[in-house]
Amino acid sequence: MSLILWTLAGYLLGAVPFGLVIARALGLGDLRKIGSGNIGATNVLRTGNKPAALATLLLDSGKGAIAVLLARHFAGEEAALLAGAAAFLGHCFPIWLGFKGGKGVATFLGTLIALSWPVGLVACATWALTAAISRISSLSALMAAVLAPLFAFALGRGDVALAAAFMGVLIFIRHHANITRLMQGTEPRIGRK
Ligand code: G3P
Repeated sequence: MSLILWTLAGYLLGAVPFGLVIARALGLGDLRKIGSGNIGATNVLRTGNKPAALATLLLDSGKGAIAVLLARHFAGEEAALLAGAAAFLGHCFPIWLGFKGGKGVATFLGTLIALSWPVGLVACATWALTAAISRISSLSALMAAVLAPLFAFALGRGDVALAAAFMGVLIFIRHHANITRLMQGTEPRIGRK
């Protein structure tokens, strides 16, 4: 029973669309009608408000980490894995927005940091290195989504590898439009509209 409750709690926490809330509160407009239409930090950055983008990144990753840490503290590692994956699902398919949510990248990173900090660190470093070279947020996310489960597996954390692979597959699915633009060479660089 506890596992179901922690999964549900993780989902509800993950379903809070911080980017949308922050953009609205600051009068930046409805993110779903700006840039890529995504509710994540990359699209908040397209409004030109860097602190708002940073806050979105921290809160969207933080909700994944908090879900894992709380579930682990009160109910153990299995609950932590379920709560983290559920927070990720909540971000991608939030009940508050008719299940039309974000692409899950920040929540993926936050969840991984809390599940296994070395895996989270490698995922963040992969994102940052790819972004530094390419200046393309989606490509950086896709690289992190591929490498994180492999690294978790290499570390002997099969449970984290499974969670990371599950989230990674969904990240690819949620980035289908980005992947098309990447292949056409029309994907915008970070900070550009
Ligand atoms: O975190 C989402 C990012 O990978 C892509 O965002 O707005 O460029 O589709 P966006």
